[in-house]
Amino acid sequence: MCGMKALIPAAGHGTRFLPVTRVVPKEMLPVGAKPAIQLIVEEALAAGADEVVIVVSPEKEIVRKYFDGDAALASRIRWAWQTEQRGLGHAVLQGAPLLAQEREPVLVLLGDALVSGEAPSAAMAAISRAHGGASVVGLEEVPLEKVSRYGIVKGTQVDERVWKLDDLVEKPAPEAAPSRLAIAGRYLLDPAIFDLLATQTPGHGGEIQLTDSIRRLLAEKSVYGYRYPGHRHDIGNPAGYLETLNAFSA
Ligand code: UTP
Repeated sequence: MCGMKALIPAAGHGTRFLPVTRVVPKEMLPVGAKPAIQLIVEEALAAGADEVVIVVSPEKEIVRKYFDGDAALASRIRWAWQTEQRGLGHAVLQGAPLLAQEREPVLVLLGDALVSGEAPSAAMAAISRAHGGASVVGLEEVPLEKVSRYGIVKGTQVDERVWKLDDLVEKPAPEAAPSRLAIAGRYLLDPAIFDLLATQTPGHGGEIQLTDSIRRLLAEKSVYGYRYPGHRHDIGNPAGYLETLNAFSA
């Protein structure tokens, strides 16, 4: 197959949502009658992905069991395993054997992030095509007092919702933030990211950070940002999950 590929990291411990995550992966929490991760798989397929790689851990085998019950979806999914939780970048790296040879950018969707309103992935794929297959990261504007929780971008606005990025700053203090635009849950990344992740040294929290490798990608290739019209919801903690249910039941 030669269409766009997607990857969903879903192997994290989910410590912010203990104790339920001792047995229920946060990605399996219901939003309506479907687990959150199914909505994310559907977003990837609707954006034009013909195959989705889901990265899980042996403890989260139930995610695979769930999709195995739906033959149509299961035929579009491949599995990768992360046996040690060394961070988001490390989880994405586990998809390398299946994806590093791709020619087009790979869509990465965080398994615990849902976006209300218009799904960003399809628009990001269109922006990438308009810029010769460049990488694109999804952005959300956050209040200045919250910039220190996110990867914040520095760039030049080239369209109403599109920026060409010059740099990224991970978790800046408000006075050091180059903008209020935070990288938010969706990425379309040049496959060169896999080589960069393979040599990435641990960063914030001692984990292999995806943003650190995107920063290095920026030095080699064009990366754009798309400020999507919707709002990112984090289902990885009880308050964020409740907010998500409210947003998606409207
Ligand atoms: P988070 O940092 O929100 O997930 O990663 P976490 O580590 O599970 O959360 P806490 O801090 O312990 O509560 C965002 C996404 O990346 C995956 C998670 O499953 C989630 O979907 N992830 C994170 C991995 O697959 N592997 C990791 O090592 C870390």
